[in-house]
Amino acid sequence: MPLQTPQNPTEWAAYYRLRYEVLRQPWQQPEGSERVPEDGLPTTVHALALDDSGHATGVAMLQAAGPGTGQVRFMAVVPAWQGRGVGRQLLGHLEAAARQRGYGRLVLHAREAAVPFYIRLGYTVQAPSHTLFDTVAHFLMHKELAAPTR
Ligand SMILES: CC(C)(COP(=O)(O)OP(=O)(O)OC[C@H]1O[C@@H](n2cnc3c(N)ncnc32)[C@H](O)[C@@H]1OP(=O)(O)O)[C@@H](O)C(=O)NCCC(=O)NCCS
Repeated sequence: MPLQTPQNPTEWAAYYRLRYEVLRQPWQQPEGSERVPEDGLPTTVHALALDDSGHATGVAMLQAAGPGTGQVRFMAVVPAWQGRGVGRQLLGHLEAAARQRGYGRLVLHAREAAVPFYIRLGYTVQAPSHTLFDTVAHFLMHKELAAPTR
């Protein structure tokens, strides 16, 4: 499945639309709430997965988060594609990008329902973190990254 940084205005619109529909709309959050200032930083990496017809199936973002550390945010796969390897592919892509940037460690705040997914991919729960929209419990997780292979 093709996986890339959004390339044009149509793909950027699909990228943020997917974020909104999977991570914000179900909790009645306003449009625009799916965007954060870090989206525009040059150090931020955006990943968009497309199906064979060019429709967005999943998104994820990596931002700098302190010395040697990156943070994964806004991992989302459309319901019809969940459980089919898109999330694994997105996270692998961001981990490779993190290694190339010299990050030795990734952190993220996982929704409770997604914790088993991250554990499956080698992440460890550190501590409970915030509760989003008064209902969605999150857990701080991390993973130490091996050095890049050349
Ligand atoms: C969580 C999410 C990103 C995972 O992506 P996905 O494409 O469904 O996951 P994958 O198919 O790549 O799964 C990779 C592995 O994790 C496992 N896995 C995925 N979700 C799981 C879950 N909720 N519980 C247990 N295992 C899970 C899969 O079975 C698979 O294991 P396998 O290799 O042994 O088959 C996706 O389901 C999603 O967008 N959920 C709704 C939004 C969300 O919660 N985002 C995360 C915010 S922190």
